[in-house]
Order: sequence, then C-alpha cells, then structure tokens
Amino acid sequence: MGPLSVNLCGIELDNPVIPASGTFGFGYEFAELYDINCLGTFSFKGTTREPRFGNPTPRIAEAPSGMLNSVGLQNPGVDAVISRELPRLKTCFSKPVMANVSGFSVEEYVDVCAALDPQPQIGWLEVNISCPNVHGEGMSFGTDPNAAAEVTRAVKAVTTKPVIVKLSPNVTDIVSIARACEDAGADGLSLINTLLSMRIDLRTRRPILANTTGGLSGPAVFPLAVRMVYQVAKAVCIPVVGLGGVSSAENVIEMMLAGATAVQVGAANLVNPFACRDIISDLPRVMEEYGIKELNEIIGGASEWEKM
Ligand code: SIN
Repeated sequence: MGPLSVNLCGIELDNPVIPASGTFGFGYEFAELYDINCLGTFSFKGTTREPRFGNPTPRIAEAPSGMLNSVGLQNPGVDAVISRELPRLKTCFSKPVMANVSGFSVEEYVDVCAALDPQPQIGWLEVNISCPNVHGEGMSFGTDPNAAAEVTRAVKAVTTKPVIVKLSPNVTDIVSIARACEDAGADGLSLINTLLSMRIDLRTRRPILANTTGGLSGPAVFPLAVRMVYQVAKAVCIPVVGLGGVSSAENVIEMMLAGATAVQVGAANLVNPFACRDIISDLPRVMEEYGIKELNEIIGGASEWEKM
C-alpha cells in the first residue's frame, strides 16, 4: 500500500479521490482529456432500469459558490450501460468502477443491481436513495429510515458486491437513516447528495429551473457535508465516502479527518475537467505540509479528541 492508498469495503484504492456520479459521465469523455487510471475510481452516471430523458430545461442555475441542477436522472438505461458503456470504458479504465444505481421502486433498484452484479468491471454498487430532482419515490427512500432499510436489504439479497448507500442531506436526522442502512446490511455509505434548493428570475418572476427546484452542490455546501460526515462516521462501523463541495486536496484531507475513507468530487469537475487529476497530484504536497505520512491514518482523526 502506498501513502495515498485506502481500502474501501475490501477493495484497495491507489488514492481516495473519486469523481462523483453525474459529474463524470461514463468516464471515457474524460479519458480523452487525461489518463483516468490516476483516479481511485469513479462513480458512473446514475442508472435506472429504463432509459430516461431527464427533466425539461433549464436544468442548471448558478448560485454563490455553487450551482443547482435538476437533471432528473438522464441515463441510457441499464441494458445500454452493460452493452455499450462498460465495453467502451474497458478501453480506457482498468480499475473497478463504482456503479451508481437509481430507481423509483424497490423492485427497480433490485432489477438494476441484479443486472449489474455479474459485470466484472464493477467494484461497488452505489445505491442512490437521495435524488432530489424526481417526483415520486426517488428521494423519499432516503428520507425515511424504514424505506432506506428496505431498499438496502432488497439489493443486498441480489448482489455479492459491496453496497454503498448514498444518503440525502434533506432530512432532520441523517444519523438515523445511516444506522438503518447499516443495520439492513449496507457495506458503506456515501454522503451528501445535493440540497433541495431554488432560484427565481427577477425579470420573469418565475423559477429559473423548469423543475422549479434543484439540488445545490459546490463549495457552498462543503461545511455542511463535513458536519454530516463527522456525525455519521462516528455513529456507524462501516466506511463512509464523503462528498459535497470538495474542490481541493485540503478539502479531501478535511473530509477524511471528519471520518471519510474515500472522498468524491462533484461540481468541481464541471468547473475544471482536470479537477480530480489536479487534486490527486497535489495531495502529497498537502500531506507534507500537515505532517501526514499515510492518508489512511487520518480517517476520523477529528473525533479523536472526544475519546480523550
Ligand atoms: C439528477 O440526475 O437529477 C441528479 C442525481 C442526484 O442528485 O441524485
């Protein structure tokens, strides 16, 4: 193991940096820009059973230190992911990839996970129970501990791959949802998804987003994400993947001190497509600055004082 490596649910990553789902497509678009094998891994676009066109436009709105999106889970559907996206990815990425799975019913989550389970390129299933941009059941699985547990239990029954459940920050008590997923068999948790938000155009006096609301991401949400990762990591025994506004090597280290084993980078990829590559190459400098010899030694370091 090198000084940057971490172990995520039994699979070793060369480094903890993972482009977040929805900001990195299915990888090969970025492989035209740089060798994406420098990444720990990446989480591919949220995949549903059927192809989805997504929400009407406009789907993006700006915000101070962040952005709102209401993409609405646009994706080609799981059959096309298996027949087209994964073979294309194989030509440019030799590491296990994280498959992000979305759904509108327990049955849909199960069907998509069962279809992806035999794919050898897939290392982890990241089960997204927290999309704020779809009507119906998308986010409601992530806002109720019983529903979160039901999805977790059902997908665990159809896969041997580690299941990482992606949690919503749009709740009063994220720890209760996290514990419910752990009790139901989750191998890991990722948090946070975006915050339900809204902007209004002063000229038209209407919402900017066609869907009225969208999910806020970017540096504005980073302190909130750190707080939630800290609270959840202290409360569970399974690994936590931290995300939400991460845009620098310093942010990666802060997330790991909060308790994250690995760290996803989302909106920053949309500002700078080289963001993850640049963060990885900057990590050794920041580690040296703060006297860190091995990254896996700092995981959860910020809660050590509470044990004193
Ligand atoms: C989207 O496609 O609307 C974003 C996915 C998510 O926030 O979970």
